[in-house]
Amino acid sequence: MRRTLIAGNWKMNGSLAANAALLAGIQSGLDQPSCDIAVCAPAPYLAQCQAALSGGLVAWGAQDLSVHESGAYTGEISAAMLRDVGCRYVIVGHSERRAYHGESNELVAQKTLRAIKAGLTPIVCVGETLAERESGQTGQVVGQQMDAVLATIAAADLSNIVVAYEPVWAIGTGKTATPQMAQEVHSLLRKKLAEKDVAAAANVQILYGGSMKPDNAKELLAMPDIDGGLIGGAALKATDFLAIIRAA
Ligand code: PGA
Repeated sequence: MRRTLIAGNWKMNGSLAANAALLAGIQSGLDQPSCDIAVCAPAPYLAQCQAALSGGLVAWGAQDLSVHESGAYTGEISAAMLRDVGCRYVIVGHSERRAYHGESNELVAQKTLRAIKAGLTPIVCVGETLAERESGQTGQVVGQQMDAVLATIAAADLSNIVVAYEPVWAIGTGKTATPQMAQEVHSLLRKKLAEKDVAAAANVQILYGGSMKPDNAKELLAMPDIDGGLIGGAALKATDFLAIIRAA
């Protein structure tokens, strides 16, 4: 039985003061949650998350990592550093990184491998643009994104990854994929995972992301292959994030 994971992606938002209030709000509002919970914070605030969340019910993670192990890579942040500040998760291949930082399927795959090797759980993001969906390429695009990762990691590593389906046209736009649309892609992704290892594929958490909100979370999370959410905008308000956790 897969546990549900509700993960917040704060993106480039926050401050020490705002994060402190948000984290306190989330923690004080948790009432014996039955799902896994995480927040993915900007790197400068990961130590703050560690201090505020250690020993509690909310895990924390980063939004990106370097593909390199260590050394002369100015500005980069290594997997080991993320482990050092207690991260459990790291988002890999978010569509904003793919679009604005030119991250290829191959780089995303290598970063996924780097995260796994360091003991982090990568949240591997895949998703199509509106043009790709409208031209009937959704399956092919997310399939290729997933294949690149699956060609790079070992079958045994499937138990160490989370996948997030995030249609690019739904991110931050208020447009959500219908539960049926999302389920169709989630089921396709699970079939891809099963080509690598049937038993492990049944246990991989596949999250939906893209304008998930308190008022649509329940119907999305009710779909058989939707195992949680990667939440952007709604993760910045404790009441909204808690409402999604409750829906799960
Ligand atoms: P959104 O972002 O919930 O604001 O659409 C989701 C994401 O980009 O992970």
